[in-house]
Amino acid sequence: MTMRTSLFSHRTIRQGVGSVKIKLLLAFCIGFTLFVLAGRAASFMGWRKHAASLNRSSLPEKGYALLINTWKRNDLLKQSISHYASCPGLASIHIVWSEPDPPSESLKKFLNHVIHLNGRKIELKFDINKEDSLNNRFKEITDLKMDAVFSIDDDVIFPCTSVEFAFTVWQSAPDTMVGYIPRIHWVDKSKGNQDTYIYSGWWSVWWTGTYSMILSKAAFFHKKYLSMYTYEMPSSIREYVTKNRNCEDIAMSFLVANATGAPPIWVKGKIFEIGSTGISSLGGHSERRTHCVNWFASKYGRMPLVSTSVKAVDSRSSWFW
Ligand SMILES: *[C@@H]1O[C@H](CO)[C@@H](O)[C@H](O)[C@H]1NC(C)=O
Repeated sequence: MTMRTSLFSHRTIRQGVGSVKIKLLLAFCIGFTLFVLAGRAASFMGWRKHAASLNRSSLPEKGYALLINTWKRNDLLKQSISHYASCPGLASIHIVWSEPDPPSESLKKFLNHVIHLNGRKIELKFDINKEDSLNNRFKEITDLKMDAVFSIDDDVIFPCTSVEFAFTVWQSAPDTMVGYIPRIHWVDKSKGNQDTYIYSGWWSVWWTGTYSMILSKAAFFHKKYLSMYTYEMPSSIREYVTKNRNCEDIAMSFLVANATGAPPIWVKGKIFEIGSTGISSLGGHSERRTHCVNWFASKYGRMPLVSTSVKAVDSRSSWFW
């Protein structure tokens, strides 16, 4: 009996969500028309210029450090660094290097060349690791001057405007993880208790508009979480990550959620995937991820992740007020 009622309410919710999506589609069509009209009016009334000058003055004073994770893909690394070096807020670059061979002289020369193309002083460092573990990407950076770390994989690129926007969002909530790729955990109802969870990917987030994690393959967070990851998080979690070669990003989400008691923040941004692993970020491999979520929750003795449906959008580029 209880089974049937829960199924029924589930379906009602689904239908509810479905009609919301149709309404959204209608609203989008109307909105798009308004947007085109408003765009004309804006240039007609000379608002464009004003918006451009606002843009300049809102640039952050203190920059962020790029923490880039790469593995045997020098071409992607070169492409990423060349791009991010052109972003105005970038102050230093830390490349997490876990390959058996050290970076070649020609690679170093190329990177040192591109980071100075804009006449700015950007620091570039390789963090060379002997052991090949996914925990390497969250090692403490001891001499880091800025608080903000922009953690990124070598196979995704975000335009500078998206990066700067996420940075300003992070500045308003510096304890929070702020990023572009959201994921969600659900209570597994089929298991009949409240303590079993399912990890879900992009489609689930898209359908429900809800998320509880931000992947560290593209996220801002405070540098203090690096030392907490290495020195304060239970070592069994780091061992799990090394052994299973997975879930370092989920471990980081748990760590931040446990420290803040709050959800992360998803920001809207354009993603360009430059590697060949595009599919993995959209789905698949979710059983292993589900296992991580349950295993970590048992280590914490509770579920620290908090769900939310807030999304930060740059109001200058959104058509709907
Ligand atoms: C979670 O946060 C609490 C309070 O800050 C802390 O005492 C505890 O050690 C953290 N748990 C883990 C597993 O790190």
